[in-house]
Amino acid sequence: MAKVGQDINDAKEVLKSGGLVAIPTETVYGLAGNALDANVVTKIFEAKQRPSFDPLIVHTSSLDKAREFVTEVPELAEILASRFWPGPLTILLKRKPIIPDLVTSGLDTVGIRVPAHELTQKLLKELDFPLAAPSANPFGYVSPTAAAHVNQQLGKEVDFILDGGDCTVGIESTIVSFEESRPKVLRLGGLSVEEIEQVIGPVEVNLHSSSKPDAPGMLKSHYAPKTEIILLDDFNAQSVEDLSSVGALVFDRPLDNIDANKQFLLSETGDVNEAARRLFTGLRTLDQRNDISTIVTNFVPNIGLGRAINDRIRRATAKA
Ligand code: TXA
Ligand code: MG
Repeated sequence: MAKVGQDINDAKEVLKSGGLVAIPTETVYGLAGNALDANVVTKIFEAKQRPSFDPLIVHTSSLDKAREFVTEVPELAEILASRFWPGPLTILLKRKPIIPDLVTSGLDTVGIRVPAHELTQKLLKELDFPLAAPSANPFGYVSPTAAAHVNQQLGKEVDFILDGGDCTVGIESTIVSFEESRPKVLRLGGLSVEEIEQVIGPVEVNLHSSSKPDAPGMLKSHYAPKTEIILLDDFNAQSVEDLSSVGALVFDRPLDNIDANKQFLLSETGDVNEAARRLFTGLRTLDQRNDISTIVTNFVPNIGLGRAINDRIRRATAKA
């Protein structure tokens, strides 16, 4: 188990000496290290067992700081950054050579994000390097939204976990690219498409889902618990020998025929933001129960963060 604490000085010491720290953000916890040090970046990939073709996001404290790492910021990107940073938005920008190849898996763009969590903001302001940080989970598994989630799975791999409480958004950042200055959403996330469009007009949404895509974290089967998880539409109750071993992850109402105590309701009031906040905890909770061998789930309303939730549900239930 890693040391857990709330003192950013502890985090700073570890990071300055080339170690790894799990950091809280408003979206999910990140597995952070010095983004400018290729050796540290290598450690991040190893700790997560992440394939080297899947690039990392670089976290910094402000748009002005971000300019140190990129060659240009297109006008619309600047508008988005000014409006939504700090916040659950990652922008892909042309990188400067100071960002190691490894961080971007050799791509000429780097994902930049200014996270909104107070502790991590403070930490980033006090460091003289940015932090590369993927979600702090083993590759392919559900992202962590609490310090304890990190400790359960990567406790041996990180030197320190900065405990910032439960993540308030609960789902990873929205990723926007600006190829030829045209905005394109590559990953649905904690900032809704509607909010983006209110500020810069219509954006294309282009989610990759092949097995080796160019916006890699968009692998089809991702965010998957270890327990079998299937969509309600594909679930045939008659074919299941023992319904008592079935659990459910549902939006606002329990399913009939399944034990109430094996069901995780995302939001009893039907609020997609609350559902996003509870999604990964729900998946983990059901996954960890020994008396559940199949999880049935269903889509939520496809509005606001509901679109990002549905994307995660689609991937979690995809056959590899
Ligand atoms: O909310 C978040 O974004 C969290 C917190 C910790 O900031 N981080 C996160 O990182 O979700 P990760 O590594 O789990 O997902 C990052 C995604 C990956 O799917 C990666 O393929 C994509 O961002 N990505 C990063 N840089 C990219 C680039 N230059 N071009 C295309 N995709 C990129
Ligand atoms: Mg991830």
